Amino acid sequence: MDEQEFVVTPWEVRGKVDYEKLIRDFGTNPITEDLLERIRKHTHELHPFLRRGAFFSHRDFDWILDKYEVGEKFFLYTGRGPSGHTHLGHLIPWIFTKYLQDKFDAELYFQMTDDEKFLHDPELNLNETTKYAYENALDVIACGFDPKKTFIFLDTEYMKTLYKIAAQFAKHVTFSTVKAAFGFDASTNIGLIFFPSIQAAPCFFPSILKGKNVPCLIPAAIDQSVYWRVARDVAPKLGLYKPAEIHSKFFPSLMRGGKMSASEPETAIFTIDSPKVAKRKIGNAFTGGQPTIKEQREKGGNPDICPIYFYEYFLFDWDDKSLAKTYRSCRDGCLLCGEHKQTLAKSVKSFLTEHQKKREKARDKMENFILRD
Ligand code: TYM
Repeated sequence: MDEQEFVVTPWEVRGKVDYEKLIRDFGTNPITEDLLERIRKHTHELHPFLRRGAFFSHRDFDWILDKYEVGEKFFLYTGRGPSGHTHLGHLIPWIFTKYLQDKFDAELYFQMTDDEKFLHDPELNLNETTKYAYENALDVIACGFDPKKTFIFLDTEYMKTLYKIAAQFAKHVTFSTVKAAFGFDASTNIGLIFFPSIQAAPCFFPSILKGKNVPCLIPAAIDQSVYWRVARDVAPKLGLYKPAEIHSKFFPSLMRGGKMSASEPETAIFTIDSPKVAKRKIGNAFTGGQPTIKEQREKGGNPDICPIYFYEYFLFDWDDKSLAKTYRSCRDGCLLCGEHKQTLAKSVKSFLTEHQKKREKARDKMENFILRD
């Protein structure tokens, strides 16, 4: 694969992602200054993810605001495929979803696709994916969602409700559609072929349960958008609103290129990693720096390709002035990669310590969040 090439699918992100090209290829819309101003009118402050363009693309977010402004409240829908423990990248859409829940007083439906990850990964059995779903739910709860307005459900445990909606949806989707959209072929197992209707079903939950159309907004990284393209095609055929979406960029891998990936543990920091393990991973990470201190001082580093910088950009420095200063010091060669890694390891340590405390407390709250039928 040459430098210019990259791949973004729900199962794989590889290479240096060109987000403008993704907007064109996926037919989504950039988040413009006008849209940001409209959001600010309601939220009073813009989340750093919006100010910095970490959430950069959408479908119909302006329509969500049109509806909201005439008193039609939307609900939020997001999820997780529990193939392992949660890593910091997964937290990006969840932290943003929590902000949206607070600012717009919105209900959240959170899907755990333990069936999807079992069907997709030959190494995983269903007991394992279900176990991970509950482990991941601790991280979701630790993000601070409102228990009265947040409903987490596992596909394998909430199927009585899900199946009726998924079946109505599936009747309108042909094999050739999912083949083209997801790259399935004749050797794909039939569980995966049906699965897009299970991930689509929650877009319509409240509409079907309440017997009236309710707008749906999905915050997620852009890798999931192919599911919503299919969901949006089918929705009008069922007399339902199309789901709206807001997309984030990818929290980077600690190695060069691609996203943080649970299947390659050294590329990712997991929420259950000890600060010591996190420090080791940061110490071994790729950077945008020069091979020697002398060259770094002379030529400066390249923050635009550096995961250490992007850790700060996403999660560990929400002060815009301070982040801009880090960027400049790196470019000018004043900041050395070793120093930068040490500063980051300290921030990651306090983040993990806090998160792990909240995660432990979440064990007692689990049943307040889980939907059962
Ligand atoms: P999964 O488990 O691959 O990812 C969970 C959520 O995290 C996002 N994500 C990332 N965001 C930023 N940086 C990264 N490096 C990164 N890696 C993953 C994903 O976009 C996703 O939002 N099939 C889905 C589960 C699902 C879902 C949903 C996701 C079911 N319904 C509705 C979003 C919205 C999955 O396997 O996600």
